[in-house]
Amino acid sequence: TVIPVILSGGSGTRLWPLSRKHYPKQFHRLSGSGQTLLQDTALRVKHLAAPILVCNEDHRFMLADQLQQVGISPAAILLEPEAKNTAPAIALAALKALEIDSDAVIAVFPADHVIANQAVFERALATAVSAAQSDNALLTFGIVPTHAETGYGYIECESGSSKNDSHEVKPVKQFVEKPDLATAESYLASGNYYWNSGMFVFKAATFIEELSAHNEAIARHCKAAYETAKEDLDFVRIDKAAFAACPSDSIDYAVMEKSNKVNVVGLDAGWSDIGGWRAIWDILDKNEQGTAAVGDVLNIDSKNTLVHSNSKDKLVCTIGLEDIVIVDTPNALLVSHKDRVQDVKEAVSQIAEDD
Ligand code: GDD
Ligand code: MG
Repeated sequence: TVIPVILSGGSGTRLWPLSRKHYPKQFHRLSGSGQTLLQDTALRVKHLAAPILVCNEDHRFMLADQLQQVGISPAAILLEPEAKNTAPAIALAALKALEIDSDAVIAVFPADHVIANQAVFERALATAVSAAQSDNALLTFGIVPTHAETGYGYIECESGSSKNDSHEVKPVKQFVEKPDLATAESYLASGNYYWNSGMFVFKAATFIEELSAHNEAIARHCKAAYETAKEDLDFVRIDKAAFAACPSDSIDYAVMEKSNKVNVVGLDAGWSDIGGWRAIWDILDKNEQGTAAVGDVLNIDSKNTLVHSNSKDKLVCTIGLEDIVIVDTPNALLVSHKDRVQDVKEAVSQIAEDD
């Protein structure tokens, strides 16, 4: 069996003011599909098997409702009492998957990515699954980089320059999570690096072995927390005290940078991790002046502008703007230059947001 695991624990602060702690980006309709990012993700992997979801306990009803709306019955919804980053979240899911099938392959997907080309995605996924089954490899999907992004992991291939071939499995020479700008620039120039997409495929058992080898504490604490978990209606509640003792780390630092079983499959399927408003503007349909609008919006002669309105009973009208991002919500309004919109992170940290 190939069991999809959907990670839905992030808070998406770069999409403030729409994405909030209690209503993060994966629960919003942001892709243009008419569904939320979580629903898009669940539907994208529906052909595999019933998914395992891992989310914060505060989001459990919203998550369960959204899955039900698109006809997805999960194999399990694991509830984290607090966020410990992706290594523990995936470890818990792997332990659940082992219970379902001791030979299970798990395919791990963030709940907040967009993939435009389903056929190419499925082909790359099938390639990754067969390598996970036959070689006990840890697979990641590589995206050909377009700029020196420092928010991504970088994957160096054994030979040649990075290509998009979704039929090929390449051994990884080096995995570097979030390098500094100068390093990222040198990687881009070398032509031997992919971006890490943040989606992973491996046998659940292989992941637990590699995690135990490279970060024994996370593996041990996750096993303890999983064993003391309680079933609660449709949910599996991870014990608060047991999980509190677990160190926090991402799969990228805890396993992928350290393991020598990492392999990569190139993916050219219109992937985006919707990392900020710029990425939303990129994927939305735009008029001939490059302007995109969501909600009740009237743009007059505004160029290369994004207006995203989430307020009911209010028209947003712009006139003659250029390179501006406007995001309107009932209790917060963002107006930013397009080139500065990643700095909303700064705004969020100054506001000390708790709504
Ligand atoms: N359940 C759960 N619990 N999910 C989590 C947690 C957690 O504690 N922390 C993060 N997630 C989910 C997020 O919702 C997101 O969907 C995914 O895991 C990845 O976490 P991010 O925090 O967004 O990671 P990142 O963007 O900094 O980096 C990762 O993704 C990049 C591509 O988007 C890395 O894998 C990079 O190497 C990669 O390039
Ligand atoms: Mg991310």
